Amino acid sequence: MKKKLIAGNWKMNGDLAANDALVRAVIAGMKDAACTVAVCVPAPYLAQVQMLRTGSALEVGAQDVSQHERGAYTGEVSAAMLKEFGVRYAIVGHSERRQYHGETDALVAEKARVALAAGVTPIVCVGETLAEREGGKTEEVVKRQMAAVIHTNGHCISEIVVAYEPVWAIGTGRTATPEQAQQVHALLRAQLKAATEHSGRIHLLYGGSMNAANAAALLAQPDIDGGLVGGASLKAADFLQIVGAAR
Ligand code: 13P
Repeated sequence: MKKKLIAGNWKMNGDLAANDALVRAVIAGMKDAACTVAVCVPAPYLAQVQMLRTGSALEVGAQDVSQHERGAYTGEVSAAMLKEFGVRYAIVGHSERRQYHGETDALVAEKARVALAAGVTPIVCVGETLAEREGGKTEEVVKRQMAAVIHTNGHCISEIVVAYEPVWAIGTGRTATPEQAQQVHALLRAQLKAATEHSGRIHLLYGGSMNAANAAALLAQPDIDGGLVGGASLKAADFLQIVGAAR
């Protein structure tokens, strides 16, 4: 069985002093972790966290990446730049970027492609809004989002990480039940299986109000291979409890 993956998404939080304390505490507490542990940090702090993690098993991720390789794209950060700083993962298509920055399925798919080409593993986020769930459209929406990524990435799709993050569960304290999450994970698994014979190696993470209390039940589901953790990743004790539940 593959190791689970627990990735923190700090979003736009942190400062030099807080990051230092948080990363040191996470590293100290994850010594016996049975899973892979990563923190996805704001771009200016990548170098800081990269230095702090030296000699530990903690992996570092970015929260976004440009779809362009280089050039006149003010404000953008390329996949090659991330790679130079030892960044292993880049979140792409987070619902906050789809919602506030107008990122489309095609753009997200392209970002995943560019990350893979540079040797950075994209954590591709998919998920439905509350209105879509209540309208019975969950399956249609997540399959459409996933299909775009499969279409653009062909056989390389086996190298990505997928995070199912129902938008209504993000930052709301309203977690999907383990059954609700498993149901969507199972259909994503089936979709990926039809696209690549190596689908078994793809990590399917759950994200959305995952915390120390609910992590174990979510992670016990057969198709949930880890978590993408927002708020609870900012507190070392909470994050480490989730890490401890991933075995
Ligand atoms: P919360 O864990 O704060 O709900 O955030 C989830 C998320 O968006 C992770 O990417």
